Amino acid sequence: MARKGRKGTAARASAKRREAAPHAAEARIVPTLSGLLAEKRVYKPSAAFRRQANCNDAKVYERAARNLEKFWGEWARKLEWFKPPKKVREWKAPFAKWFADGKLNVSVNCLDRHVKTARRNKAALVWEGEPGDRRTYTYWELWREVNQFANVLKRLGVRKGDRVAIYLPMIPEAAIAMLACARLGAIHSVVFGGFSAESLKDRINDARAKLLITADGGYRRGNLLPLKQYADEALAHCPTIENVVVVKRGGAEFPVHIREGRDHWWHRLMQDAGGWCEPAAVNSEDLLFILYTSGTTGKPKGIVHSTAGYLIGVLATTAWVFDLKEDDLFWCTADIGWVTGHSYTVYGPLALGATTLMYEGAPDWPARDRFWDICERHGVTVFYTAPTAIRAFMKWGAEHIGKHDLSRLRLIGTVGEPINPEVWVWYQQTVGGGRCPVVDTWWQTETGHILITPLPGLTALKPGSATRPFPGVSADVVDAEGRRVDPEASGGGGYLVLTRPYPGMLRGIWGDPERYKQEYWSRYPGLYFTGDGAKRDEDGYFWLLGRVDDVLNVAGHRIGTAEVESELVDHKAVAEAAVVGIPHELKGEAIAAFVTLKDGHGASDPVELMDELKEHVVRKIGAISRPDRILFAADLPKTRSGKIMRRLLRDVATGRALGDTTTLADPSVIESLKARYAEE
Ligand code: WTA
Repeated sequence: MARKGRKGTAARASAKRREAAPHAAEARIVPTLSGLLAEKRVYKPSAAFRRQANCNDAKVYERAARNLEKFWGEWARKLEWFKPPKKVREWKAPFAKWFADGKLNVSVNCLDRHVKTARRNKAALVWEGEPGDRRTYTYWELWREVNQFANVLKRLGVRKGDRVAIYLPMIPEAAIAMLACARLGAIHSVVFGGFSAESLKDRINDARAKLLITADGGYRRGNLLPLKQYADEALAHCPTIENVVVVKRGGAEFPVHIREGRDHWWHRLMQDAGGWCEPAAVNSEDLLFILYTSGTTGKPKGIVHSTAGYLIGVLATTAWVFDLKEDDLFWCTADIGWVTGHSYTVYGPLALGATTLMYEGAPDWPARDRFWDICERHGVTVFYTAPTAIRAFMKWGAEHIGKHDLSRLRLIGTVGEPINPEVWVWYQQTVGGGRCPVVDTWWQTETGHILITPLPGLTALKPGSATRPFPGVSADVVDAEGRRVDPEASGGGGYLVLTRPYPGMLRGIWGDPERYKQEYWSRYPGLYFTGDGAKRDEDGYFWLLGRVDDVLNVAGHRIGTAEVESELVDHKAVAEAAVVGIPHELKGEAIAAFVTLKDGHGASDPVELMDELKEHVVRKIGAISRPDRILFAADLPKTRSGKIMRRLLRDVATGRALGDTTTLADPSVIESLKARYAEE
């Protein structure tokens, strides 16, 4: 299956180097990156890793493909059910149900199930705050807190099916709040703490959330971000919110406004909350959470996930992809406001009874070795982060890593963006010490759990490839007409689609079933369109090529071009805006916005106006959407039917030669833009 390393000079030289360094741990000679890349080496799991791996039987792929229901049904049996399901899957495209006649509770599966065993006193959650404060919760302690907080929510009127918005920094209360909602069968909607008041308001109103959980502040690079203040701005326009629970993070002096009757301090409410809350028996297909993400229109969509299918998907992938054992310490660095934090900081590891680490702050605070300091001090064994972060570490230099003993790491992973082979090899060599398998995992908010990924005890890795679909998952690469692309032909490139349902798949878009059909199922009948480009090689490995729709991936965050555009045109000076992605050394992609101004708003100081527009977008959406470049234009290039040709704008913004301009209504528009920005 896997190609052997070429027997060229580079391969021979590296074999010699290996001979010369038999005690790899003590005297490892780091080969050059270019040497490693030129070798086109595949990285096979070591015999030792393979032996101990949670999944080391290559037949699982075939078995799962042959009997999908049996495969997922076996995972379902690992859970604790109030009513075990008899059914596995119902598929009426594009609507799937999994284990539909079962009843269970997610918090019982993440906590009560373990509290009954020797895991009772095992660390469930290890947390470190940015200022250096630490807290560890055993399974017992986390279980108690979740029960108490579920009682708090109940007393504030939260019932099964109600929506609860969570706008918190990365503190343990975020996980406790999520699990407490799950205990009651309430649906949580976590909003990333970096989003603006306006974004929070939109999400609360779309979900018609009844209660908000927030904090006075959260630490980022030594400062406290005033979350409650942002929440208050949002709440002025959120009529459905009845109560607000506020975690005190900032200390006594940190100013915070508490509105009597509506706002309550978390710690006060917890003081007299009982330690047992009867878990709700939730139907498999009832919703566990809503998570908003960007699509191709100006309005973010609330992706909804079910209870049983989601939990089974995250359980299976956590076990097999991250290979977690009883004594592992798993650190997924993603914020809980993103799906990665939901699935692999909270639900996956806890469903498995593993220990999960959570860190509040920035990777470069107070110094650029903070992550490695955390890994060393806590003894992290499995580490999962994004290519953007890895590119930053690479730029900051290996010396920050070299200061720390990372020998406990045994597996490292990445998610969120395509990882370039150079960065993969650097990660494997420098962070992984040349010994850790690297799992490059492809998935989406919509898919709930990892779908294309190596299994570290089985898969021969190729730097830059997410390798193969997880057992029981089927993906394909098709052309514009939906025909399967032959891997041997024309580079094997096309559009990534999913061809069969899997347990964790989204159950729809909150309040908008039409949009669900339209966005994912209308392009190719019967196939789920991912929005990603991909190619497959001769070994059947998938190589992800980035988004092919109007969604950008900036530093691993999904940003809809239409969202940024609609905020730009909301500014009084702007007539029209077109947003495109341009390559960025660290962030993968950065935002460039072409803007035409309204008559009479010709800027006297263009630089000032540029800054004002950037700030305007930050205020409206959040800092992740700040445009890197604003380019003023007299006019935007359009087709005869009035569609803006973003492809040409991208050529201008990146200084490339213009592509095909024949469909333009007025070619002089793009020519003059090109001339204007040629020197920049
Ligand atoms: C991209 C994050 C290449 C992809 C879990 C996808 C990736 C989008 C990878 C989803 C990967 C995620 N290689 N690209 N390993 N993982 N992506 O919803 O474009 O925030 O469609 O979910 O990130 O982003 P989302």
